[in-house]
Amino acid sequence: MRKEPIKLFDLWRETMDAMVRHGLLLCSVDAEGKPNVMTIGWMTGGVVWGKPILCVFVRPSRYTYSRLEQVGEFTVNVLPPTFEEALQVCGTVSGRDVDKFERTGLTPAPAQKVRAPIVEQGVIHYECRVVHKNDVLPEFLAEEIRTAAYPQGNFHRVYFGEVVAAYASPDAAERLQK
Ligand SMILES: Cc1cc2nc3c(=O)[nH]c(=O)nc-3n(C[C@H](O)[C@H](O)[C@H](O)COP(=O)(O)O)c2cc1C
Repeated sequence: MRKEPIKLFDLWRETMDAMVRHGLLLCSVDAEGKPNVMTIGWMTGGVVWGKPILCVFVRPSRYTYSRLEQVGEFTVNVLPPTFEEALQVCGTVSGRDVDKFERTGLTPAPAQKVRAPIVEQGVIHYECRVVHKNDVLPEFLAEEIRTAAYPQGNFHRVYFGEVVAAYASPDAAERLQK
């Protein structure tokens, strides 16, 4: 089905609900163009520097981190709940060891404005260019969060992505209900 352009917050509630329920898919690409996909459960969005921005949180141990350091572009894809199993695989297996597109049957498709692909099975897509990155600093972090989220360190790097394109299936909200 054809996907239509949206504004950043048109389907924000649906995006956040899906993220909390089973996660979203973050696609990255290396300098040779090989794509990778990983599940994310942490993302914020808003307007910074007068630009629509998504912030994603990626631990240095992730293969995705090395991809984002090579190519500062990514896509965030919202999938219906029927893809829960694929989201689980993309959130537990590393692209270092396995081609997750092949393993899950998810299909990478060319994005409109960035080198990282979108996931064709998604119903909402955000394309982003990294305009800033920053690390979570233990000394500035609330003690209870440090203890709960970082028992082994591996503090997230936060990538600020300017949203350069966003689009969705016309029936996205309905398909995310099921
Ligand atoms: C529901 C869910 C949410 C997750 N959210 C994040 C996240 O926001 N940031 C992160 O670094 N890892 C997150 N992970 C873990 C990564 O998806 C997982 O380590 C993945 O295998 C990394 O893949 P990669 O090595 O190919 O990059 C999440 C996992 C699940 C199952």
